[in-house]
Order: sequence, then structure tokens, then C-alpha cells
Amino acid sequence: MTTVLALETSCDETAAAVVRDGRVLSSEVASQVQDHARWGGVVPELASRRHVELLPVMVERALEGAGCGLTDLDAVAATVTPGLLGALLVGSISGRTLAQLAGVPFVGIHHLEGHLAAALGDGGDAAGPLLVLLVSGGHTELIARMPPDRYERLAGTHDDAAGEAFDKVARLLGLGYPGGPAVELAARGGDPGRFRFPEGRIRRPGGGFDPWAFSFSGLKTAVLREVQRLEASGGPLPVADLAASFQGAVCRVLVGRSVRCAVDRGLAGLVVVGGVSANGCLRAGLQQACAEAGLELRLAPPALCTDNAAMIGLAACRRLQAGQCSPLDLGVAPRLPLEQAERLYGSAPF
Ligand code: KG4
Ligand code: ZN
Repeated sequence: MTTVLALETSCDETAAAVVRDGRVLSSEVASQVQDHARWGGVVPELASRRHVELLPVMVERALEGAGCGLTDLDAVAATVTPGLLGALLVGSISGRTLAQLAGVPFVGIHHLEGHLAAALGDGGDAAGPLLVLLVSGGHTELIARMPPDRYERLAGTHDDAAGEAFDKVARLLGLGYPGGPAVELAARGGDPGRFRFPEGRIRRPGGGFDPWAFSFSGLKTAVLREVQRLEASGGPLPVADLAASFQGAVCRVLVGRSVRCAVDRGLAGLVVVGGVSANGCLRAGLQQACAEAGLELRLAPPALCTDNAAMIGLAACRRLQAGQCSPLDLGVAPRLPLEQAERLYGSAPF
């Protein structure tokens, strides 16, 4: 039996969880959304300070919720990359301190591996190589996953991430922050066919279009132009139709290119992870397209799609099972490709 206390502080969610052998015993998340909303985005310095205040409370609640004390733990895990430097430091230093206090190993986790662990669930490796669509506020990437932990990046966005586009369009439409859930809510009852927004294709140097690559900045600009045009002509802004048309365009692109990539590469399944995978329109589109293409689809439960510590604990269980843990002088890194996650368990920490 392996019991892990896991911490997540890479951006603006302060979270702690206890996971035992791949089962989530408790998961506490304090969102800092209200602290950052008035600035329209995450303020790194503010995020770090709030993590310092909130993390001890989250840890206490997570331990209490799981009915555990420090002496019941077999390991402590924390996100160490990628993310905001100061924010990562709060979780990493707290995690290493708690590990030393409890006299147990520390496991540094790559944030994206956490998102993946939440979607893969038990037996994730039995399915063989899969395509991962990673869609969050900072990433939109297609990555081949060869079990247990080898990755190859196949394609990605050439400009904005999908979540970033949701956040920017939400601001444009006066829907507040964070944008994804706000746009999804506003789009309910809207007509997705009213505005035809571009689907951001990337030209290949030799001619034609890249069938897998993404671009969302043109789509965001098209929404801006439409809003300006509508405002100039007076009358109320058709927010629901704009939101639904924008959301529809993003989902068509994400679904179409991921399925195409999986089929082209002969991968039998698609795993979709990151905050945007909570989107109902995207989930429905993926379910239909994967069924039609004969692809196995894996999605994390909606509550585990956005940042949380349970997913970090699930990833840590897998690493511990493989006999891996991290050196106590492991640092943090604002960026590290998923393909290099193995570096967190070597003897030469970054
Ligand atoms: O994975 P995540 O929680 O944090 C990062 O690591 O970035 O993803 C956050 C992103 C934000 O851009 C947010 O607007 C988006 O995920 N998001 C959504 C939804 N929920 C969160 N986008 C679309 N629809 C949603 N329901
Ligand atoms: Zn995330």
C-alpha cells in the first residue's frame, strides 16, 4: 500500500490531495480566480504569495479528509515543472520539507504528466501507443505516448493556446475570467452557425496545409473584428451566438486535427487532457468523431480536467511503482518538454 501526499501550485490553483495506490482519498483545491480576476489574468507575484498562505490550509484539509497524518505517508509529491517559477517553488519547497519531516521520498512531477495520469486511469498502459491532445491555458499539442513514459511531440500551436483563445475571447465579450467556463456557459442557447470563423490553417513550406498544426490567433482576431463591426452598427451584441460560433470553431479544429493525426499515425486511441478538455462541446465532438473513426477515447472526469493535486498524486503513484523518486536537491523549471520528464528522476537534477 502506497500513500502519497501531493501538492500542486504551478499556476493559480493551490491544491493538495492524498492518493493511495491510484485511488484518490481526498482532493482540496483553492482557486485564486477571484484574486486575479480584477487584473484579467494571473499575476505571478500575487500567485506565489497566495500559495504561501493557502497551501498549509489545503495540506491540513487533505490529510484530514483522508484520515491520515504525516506518519501514514509513503511519499510526498509536488509539481516542479512547467509553470510560474515562484509558484512552483512554493509547492516544491513545501513538498521537500514535508518529505524530510515524514522521512519519506520526494517525487517531483511534470504538470502535464499529472493531467495525463488523470485521464489514463488504471490500465492506461494496456492500450499501447496513444495520441495525447493536450489543451490548456498554455499548451495545445499533439503528442504520441509510448507506454509507459516515452513521448514524441508531433504537432502544436503556432501562436495562442486554445485555452488562451477562450480567455481572450471571453474578455472581448465581457464575460470575465477564467474564460473557458464563461464562454461555455454563454454559448448555451447560442447559434453556433451564425458566424463562420476561420479554422487557423498553417501553410506548409512546400505547398498545401499542415493537417495537424494549430493556430488560434486569427480566430481570436476574427471574433474581435466581428465584435467591432457589430458594435459600430449599434444594438446589443449577440453574445450567445458569438460565443457558440467561436466555441464551435475551436472544437471543430481540435477534434478534426487530433483524429486526423491519430489515424495518420496509426494510433489506436486518443487521450485528451488539460483544462479545455472540461468543455462539453469538445467532449461531445470528440466522442462522436472517435466513435466514427474507431478510436478509443479517454477523458478525465470533468473535476480532474482543470488543475488539481489528485492528478499529481496519481502520476506520482506510477513513478513510485516504477521505482522512481527525485533527489532532494531537485529544483524547479518554468519549462521542460514532457519528453524530458525522466530528468526529474536522474541523479543530475536541474
Ligand atoms: O490545465 P489548466 O487548468 O491550467 C493550465 O495548466 O493552463 O487549463 C486552464 C485553461 C484556461 O485557459 C481555461 O479558460 C480553460 O483551461 N478552460 C476551459 C474550460 N475550463 C477551463 N476552456 C473551455 N471550456 C471549459 N469548460
Ligand atoms: Zn494544467
